[in-house]
Amino acid sequence: MGCMVAIGTQWGDEGKAKMIDFFSKDSDIIVRYQGGANAGHTVVVDGVKHVFHLIPSGILRESKICLIGNGVVIDPEQLIEEIDLLESKGISLKGRLLISDAAHMILPLHKAFDEAMEEFRSNKIGTTKRGIGPAYSDKCLRVGIRVGDVFDEEYMRERLAFDIKLKNLYLEKVFGKPPFPMEKVLDIIDRFRERAGGMVANTSHYLHTAIGEGKKILLEGAQGFALDIDHGTYPFVTSSNPTIGGALLGTGLNCSDIDQVFGITKAYVTRVGEGPFPTEEKGEFGEFLRTKGGEFGATTGRPRRCGWFDIPLLRQASRINGLTNIALTKLDVLSGLKTVKVAASYRLDGKEIDYYPSAKLHRVEPVYEELPGWDEDISSCTTFDDLPIAARVYVRYLEERGGVKISLVSNGADRKNTFPL
Ligand code: GDP
Ligand code: IMO
Ligand code: MG
Repeated sequence: MGCMVAIGTQWGDEGKAKMIDFFSKDSDIIVRYQGGANAGHTVVVDGVKHVFHLIPSGILRESKICLIGNGVVIDPEQLIEEIDLLESKGISLKGRLLISDAAHMILPLHKAFDEAMEEFRSNKIGTTKRGIGPAYSDKCLRVGIRVGDVFDEEYMRERLAFDIKLKNLYLEKVFGKPPFPMEKVLDIIDRFRERAGGMVANTSHYLHTAIGEGKKILLEGAQGFALDIDHGTYPFVTSSNPTIGGALLGTGLNCSDIDQVFGITKAYVTRVGEGPFPTEEKGEFGEFLRTKGGEFGATTGRPRRCGWFDIPLLRQASRINGLTNIALTKLDVLSGLKTVKVAASYRLDGKEIDYYPSAKLHRVEPVYEELPGWDEDISSCTTFDDLPIAARVYVRYLEERGGVKISLVSNGADRKNTFPL
């Protein structure tokens, strides 16, 4: 492997961080390429839980270099908090964390705007209120502040003054909220410069050089395919591209650099926030998954909506991303069910379809197939053959219907709970 990308194939929280930590063992450099602190990435090592929002999930492997790419939107307060927390746990970041000078900053006014906008909307998205949409909008409006801008005080102040003026007009006149003082923003930027200024680099140049030296690169996606601004369930999406295009744009790599695209896929489906979810189970079974799978947001603590596996969703994620392999996570959560249902296709306007019509997803009805369940606790299995026959049949069914090779199974949150097929 020269360069591998790991992408969530559902609505986020597929267990990406757990798999990134697993893949990091054999990588030299791990790069976050999009999103911001809306992500909540959990890694469990020997029973100790670590949650990352901005720092790549490979940081727990001592000798590895971690990069925050140009496609990420960086909340400096959150970043400093995460750096401090890691260092307080005795994890040294010295020379191991680099931040792109071209990444955009999320400032307090973006978070205030995100919150006010959600309150103001009649049709809520259920954002994480981390300022993601406003920061990416500023990038597109060309009024954003990039990490590299903070080293040119005069230039930055001029740009910041304009953005603050614009945001304050909205905050006061549209949303009826208090304006944001410039001093507060400058103070946060000062702290960022002091604490993380030495980590700022031209990360795309760094990556190209590393590839030339034969280094192994792992790209870490946040969110998931169906939250993609272009390919997801718009408008109930995030404001970036978690899909393969985002991996290239958010790092500066090109398609010939990529050797492998791993889809990270949960053995059932979850979603946080609003928007269509064809296989959602609102009753007892949804509650079973939420409780057994610990399905509560790692960023906001909100209960995740839960439902059965969805084949058309996986097939679409595979087409858009060019998936070469899948890591199937949380298979252990399905133990104890008499039967397991899978949406093999959808019914739309009386016709059965096997594809994912993103614009009409709220109107499809899943067409289910039922497979036998299994009772055994599978969390101590260490090979595919250790799994009960019904679990093996389920995995092979997903592989065959989804059309992508399942290469890894995760059967517990801990680092040790992963085995190949
Ligand atoms: P991410 O955003 O995709 O990195 O996923 P999250 O960290 O938000 O959510 C995944 C949750 O499932 C976390 O609490 C993980 O510790 C946990 N987890 C990951 N893989 C497994 C698994 O195979 N089995 C179980 N039971 N839990 C898992
Ligand atoms: P990870 O990386 C699950 C969802 C929010 C909301 C929508 C838009 O942990 O998988 P935003 O704050 O991005 O503007 O919110 O996207 N969302 C996520 N859901 N996992 C995530 O990240 C998410 N990041 C954003 O709940 O519905
Ligand atoms: Mg998460």
